Amino acid sequence: MSTLKQKYIKKRLHLQIVFKEVVFVNKKIVILNGSPRKRGNTSALTSAFTKGAIEAGNQVTEFFLYDMNIKGCKGCFGGGRNCDSPCVQKDDMDRIYPIYKEADIVVLASPLYYWTISGQLKTAFDRLFAIAECDPNYHNPKKSSILIMAAEGYGFEESEYWYDRLEQHIGWKSLGKVLCGGVMAVGDIEGNDKLEDAYKLGTSI
Ligand SMILES: Cc1cc2nc3c(=O)[nH]c(=O)nc-3n(C[C@H](O)[C@H](O)[C@H](O)COP(=O)(O)O)c2cc1C
Repeated sequence: MSTLKQKYIKKRLHLQIVFKEVVFVNKKIVILNGSPRKRGNTSALTSAFTKGAIEAGNQVTEFFLYDMNIKGCKGCFGGGRNCDSPCVQKDDMDRIYPIYKEADIVVLASPLYYWTISGQLKTAFDRLFAIAECDPNYHNPKKSSILIMAAEGYGFEESEYWYDRLEQHIGWKSLGKVLCGGVMAVGDIEGNDKLEDAYKLGTSI
């Protein structure tokens, strides 16, 4: 082999290694924010998390589900035929699907509503089933995930149970939870230590 060719191959290999490093360091994160209050406590937590995650070189896309037109799942089992737009219902889920498919990490963010996640988050999450329908065995794409919640009280047990069961069932890996109790009105969360926890979780990615 000529020296020139050897040099060319060496350079390509080097470039590939550099490229791989870049790809592996940066994670794609999608936040599904189920709070109707854009300046509320859940959003304060997701903002702190996002700040940390971006500082650590990751890419974050947040969807405020309340602002979006997302219908409830019809339970028709008719999705998955076109994996670019997998659901039979055509609405704003088509904005989420491509980002969700690419994401390494899914952040489920919600206020605590009657001891569980908000309807907005549950509705959007059910509709992700259409992506699983692209797989012949209904396997969900493998992701890591995070749970972020805010509440007036501290009764997160039921939501944690749901989240942990979900992770087990669909084979996702949880990277952490930030559960902030004691916050009711918009702004109550100001100065709360959980904001720092959310930020640190972001920087850890
Ligand atoms: C419909 C509804 C149900 C709620 N249910 C609970 C609850 O079960 N437990 C609780 O501690 N707080 C409950 N809250 C209070 C919210 O979780 C709390 O105000 C939270 O900080 C809201 O987050 P946000 O600012 O992101 O909207 C409820 C609030 C609403 C509007």
